[in-house]
Amino acid sequence: MNTTRIGLIGAGGVAARHARVLSGLPEVQVSGVTDVVPEAAERLAGQHGARTYDTVGDLLADGPDAVYVCVPPFAHGDAERAVLAAGLPMFVEKPIAINHGIATEIAALVDAGKALTAVGHHWRYLPVVEKARQVLDGRPIRLITGSWLDKVPPVAWWPIGGRSGGPVVEQAAHVLDLARHLAGEVDEVFAYGNGTPPPVDGADVDGATTAVLRFASGAVGNLAATCVLGWKQRAGLEVYADGLALALTETELVIRDGERTETVTCDPADGHVAVDQAFVRAVRGEGDDIRVPYAEALRTHELALAVAQSAAEGRVVTPGVARA
Ligand SMILES: NC(=O)c1ccc[n+]([C@@H]2O[C@H](COP(=O)([O-])OP(=O)(O)OC[C@H]3O[C@@H](n4cnc5c(N)ncnc54)[C@H](O)[C@@H]3O)[C@@H](O)[C@H]2O)c1
Repeated sequence: MNTTRIGLIGAGGVAARHARVLSGLPEVQVSGVTDVVPEAAERLAGQHGARTYDTVGDLLADGPDAVYVCVPPFAHGDAERAVLAAGLPMFVEKPIAINHGIATEIAALVDAGKALTAVGHHWRYLPVVEKARQVLDGRPIRLITGSWLDKVPPVAWWPIGGRSGGPVVEQAAHVLDLARHLAGEVDEVFAYGNGTPPPVDGADVDGATTAVLRFASGAVGNLAATCVLGWKQRAGLEVYADGLALALTETELVIRDGERTETVTCDPADGHVAVDQAFVRAVRGEGDDIRVPYAEALRTHELALAVAQSAAEGRVVTPGVARA
């Protein structure tokens, strides 16, 4: 079978992870890399025997079979427009934008071009998440409590709201995506931010956010997010149904079902591999297991924007009506 040639736009931390995974897949070649910082593109390309390109246009002109867009949240838009105009399958890292306007514009282009897309919500591929879905089958969720309690990641754009979209949009979006995956859509959100940035240079985002979520199913939930620690304390969800309690993280699922308790563990790297494998298989026409195409990621993004907007404006917000 032919080799699938993949181009990368953005050559930072997450691009390096995708490049490692993709290079380990059979019949896949990381063929080209472009970055606004040429040295970053050269470094990553050099590790994978790929070419570097000065611009997105040059990378696309070389005819890759698919493209990964791994730019920071503020930089989304131009890359996606170019990849879609070229008619190529596109993997986009989350968050898909910092606002609603670019995300909905790109979603419309994806729809119009019937483009094959995937977004990096890899948690949905974790065996512990699949197990949680099985256990919850037929057991209506009453309560979900989500948390992302962490540090400021070591990238300069992260603590600046106009660059990252803020901690909920940028980071807690993984947990919000999981909440939607398990409990369905959220129809109302109310949130508070604590108003004080984390103690790092230039930060202007809230150091802590708390939100209340009302799901369309009748379930209720909350989210607690902070970035003021020097370490990752916890990121995950607790889920409660009648006689059932689940505690889910990227590495573990603890199930208490009546008197029975079971703990299942997993390696987060399994999700990293599976999300890329599913995209590549879809590009090659060998599989149909893309769990978060662009339109689905837009729903999660709208939920995260609704939390951010509610915290900023002090009012109840309906996801999808948010215009952060
Ligand atoms: N799914 C996950 O688990 C996961 C993990 C880490 C990061 N991410 C996401 O990936 C995105 C990137 O994060 P990162 O840690 O790689 O950031 P990073 O800052 O390490 O890398 C981003 C790279 O993009 C380049 N860049 C910026 N604008 C560009 C443009 N217009 N065209 C081409 N290149 C451009 C930068 O020069 C930089 O090299 C973020 O949205 C982040 O949330 C997702």
